[in-house]
Amino acid sequence: MTSSPSDVAKIDVVVLAAGKGTRMYSTKPKVLHTIGGKPMAQHVIDAAKRLGDVALHVVVGHQADLVSSSLQCAESFVEQREQLGTGHAVAQVLPILREDAITLILYGDVPLIQTQTLERLVAGCTAQSMTLLTVTLDNPQGYGRICRNTDNEVTSIVEQKDADPEQLLINEVNTGIMCIQQSCLAAWLPLLSNSNAQNEYYLTDVVAMAVAQGIGVTSVDAPSPEEVEGVNNKLQLGALERCYQRRLADALMLAGTTLADPARVDIRGELSVGQDVFIDVNTVFSGNVTLGDNVSIGSNCVVSNSSIGDNTELLANCVVDQATLANDCIIGPFARLRPGSTFAQKSKVGNFVEVKNSSFGEGSKANHLAYVGDAQVGAGSNIGAGTITCNYDGANKHKTRLGKNVFIGSNSTLVAPLDIADNGFVAAGSTIVKTVLADSLAVARGRQKNIEGWTRPSKKS
Ligand code: UD1
Ligand code: MG
Repeated sequence: MTSSPSDVAKIDVVVLAAGKGTRMYSTKPKVLHTIGGKPMAQHVIDAAKRLGDVALHVVVGHQADLVSSSLQCAESFVEQREQLGTGHAVAQVLPILREDAITLILYGDVPLIQTQTLERLVAGCTAQSMTLLTVTLDNPQGYGRICRNTDNEVTSIVEQKDADPEQLLINEVNTGIMCIQQSCLAAWLPLLSNSNAQNEYYLTDVVAMAVAQGIGVTSVDAPSPEEVEGVNNKLQLGALERCYQRRLADALMLAGTTLADPARVDIRGELSVGQDVFIDVNTVFSGNVTLGDNVSIGSNCVVSNSSIGDNTELLANCVVDQATLANDCIIGPFARLRPGSTFAQKSKVGNFVEVKNSSFGEGSKANHLAYVGDAQVGAGSNIGAGTITCNYDGANKHKTRLGKNVFIGSNSTLVAPLDIADNGFVAAGSTIVKTVLADSLAVARGRQKNIEGWTRPSKKS
């Protein structure tokens, strides 16, 4: 039997993100520190959104304005003015939670939580039962412990600071993540007390209340400790960053990409790859990057918000930002492609060439040591070593336009605005300030004069 939409539980998601994160020693609120270039709380929001039709609420407190303006797509941000505990935090959202919905409570500083795990929590939450995500740790220090009776049923959660020596030996701990009917929260949150070791209103106390009311508490085992690990300091942030990167690297390899070393590629955004792509060590991708089929990325390349066509090779040590490369290009080593640069197929850019806001036509080349800015380079043109487009007059930027099959000799200075028509030829060492017509040669340099029998200056005694 298939379920009709009315059978599907309505889900309200509450993300707790009010804490300061003192141990991060940062002016930035903890939940905005990033994993894979994205704020931790955004990872949590995105995992929840993949559940489908959910209403999302984020509880903010410390630097509330900054946190709410930095996160995308929460239905609402609710301010918790004083951080009086996790139970108090959820109580701030209670008035806007839907009466006929279940509430999924997540932590903004537990970034690697997966949607599949949340689905299991949601599935187990009924009118008669709440679900609790737990994990068994070798070292449970600091966490709330899960207490069970002789029938192995969950009876309560006791916080580290309130636990007796026997309870401290329990290895099964509370991840903090739970799913519970709104009606239960409405009944129990007002009953929470702060008479405990931390003088906080503990959300975890609802577990004992559920048991007392005959509501079952179903525990769901987290698939791995990393998935439910919280971040309190930079050491934990660094460890989870590595876990996250490893996840992405594994997914890439399983989809057919060859990574020279899966531990030495960093993806800080969305990377989409074609078939038979090779990525060498120490590469960093950020923002939206698309790689076509047979693309090869050399070691130490940094590629941001760019698209790279089939068979194109980035040799080692290139920096590519907001550039578009067509098929069969060869770039680098040591090239810098800056925003607004486009390369038609079979174009080549070699070592120590900087390109900014320029277009390279099919098969055009700048193989060594050049600056090409605000330029249009026609198909088949060749820019010699040491060529500079003087695109800036100190106040304004100007364009340089090269037609097809233009040849620019080495060490030329092209003073923009400038046009060089098809088949134009510039002699090496020229400073070109005027239009060069089609099929003509421009020479603009001092003539060489040889003085025979020249005596070198000698050193004075
Ligand atoms: C909490 C749980 C503990 C669990 C642990 C897992 C309680 C009482 N304890 O403890 O059982 O093992 O998480 O990491 O819930 N927050 C607010 N407002 C507040 C307090 C906290 O928004 O007033 C947010 C924090 O920003 C954080 C989350 O809630 O994202 C957890 O708070 P934290 O103080 O870290 O709780 P723990 O003591 O770690
Ligand atoms: Mg914590």
